[in-house]
Amino acid sequence: MASDKIILTGDRPTGRLHIGHYVGSLRRRVELQNEGDYKKMFVFIADAQALTDNIENPEKVRQNVIEVALDYLSVGLDPEKITIFIQSQVPELTELSFYYMDLVTVSRLQRNPTVKTEIAMRNFEASIPVGFFTYPISQAADITAFKATTVPVGEDQLPMLEQAREIVRKFNSIYGETLVEAEALLPSNAACMRLPGTDGKAKMSKSLGNCIYLSDSSEELWNKVKGMHTDPLHLQVSDPGHIEGNCVFIYLDAFCRPEHFAKFRDAFIGKKVSFEFNSLDELKAKYQEGGLGDMMIKKFLYEILEDTLGPIRERRKKYEQDIPAVYEMLRKGCEEARKAAGETLDEVRRAMKITYFDDEELIKEQSERFASK
Ligand code: TRP
Repeated sequence: MASDKIILTGDRPTGRLHIGHYVGSLRRRVELQNEGDYKKMFVFIADAQALTDNIENPEKVRQNVIEVALDYLSVGLDPEKITIFIQSQVPELTELSFYYMDLVTVSRLQRNPTVKTEIAMRNFEASIPVGFFTYPISQAADITAFKATTVPVGEDQLPMLEQAREIVRKFNSIYGETLVEAEALLPSNAACMRLPGTDGKAKMSKSLGNCIYLSDSSEELWNKVKGMHTDPLHLQVSDPGHIEGNCVFIYLDAFCRPEHFAKFRDAFIGKKVSFEFNSLDELKAKYQEGGLGDMMIKKFLYEILEDTLGPIRERRKKYEQDIPAVYEMLRKGCEEARKAAGETLDEVRRAMKITYFDDEELIKEQSERFASK
């Protein structure tokens, strides 16, 4: 029997996607897509949400829609298998958000941890745009419009999922079973949950300049890996090193697979220290013991990242050659998305008793009532 799962997730187009997005969600999405265990799968570019805190910068959002679309295609998301669309082109989502606004209180939004942190980060103080403040409601519309059951996201999005579920429960309790409660699907390993920036700061972020982008060239990649934060106490190769909080090891935890050891051993031939490791545990133990230099582990990490990013970069180049085809793919995706969201919206309107013209029963009942006055 085919699965009833409906998978949905999206990204704000405020920059190109980076390897934090990749291990946090993109890699998983491609696996889910290819496993095929779902009824439908939607991946979308949340441009309307991006505008909530970029209202004066529409060109930035517009330019990044295509960047994100190219990133999607280059990691292997396949419009033949799933629906890829742009949020603003599905006006049904806006209408749903408007109705959901009545189901959420201002104080509940103020308590949303993600919104709280983001407000602090943006120095909005007293001038928070209403649209930004209420974006968890619009995100609930994104999720419920497609009756999503499964939302692959990073940990930072959990409060959004919780808010969406609350809206669903409230809606269903007032208007009857209509909407579906979605579950978050988190990365399975801690390093993937929240990949730090190359400077060791908690999060990769464009404004901090600590990202490795999926579209970085090999040279950019090597320069960024070379400059990565490691263990400040590991001054000489012979010193014992720390792996906790050491970005190189956190990235290895996220990207390294057992076969990488055999595959990249040759890259180290002719180096002073031989690279005789068979597992990440052995590599970590040697680093902690002393005698393993930062350059060596960085070179190994570079090889692994290049192994993943090289094919992504190549595919991107191919799609970059035919931008009109990418927009055509998105246009079709938007049409499919409108159809799906429209069906839910019809059910919502009916449940909320805001259908009139096609409600024969209503018109008949009222005709009789007024005629008998
Ligand atoms: N808030 C998400 C982000 O910042 C993007 C997003 C918008 C989203 N709507 C969504 C993610 C619905 C999952 C489901 O990346």
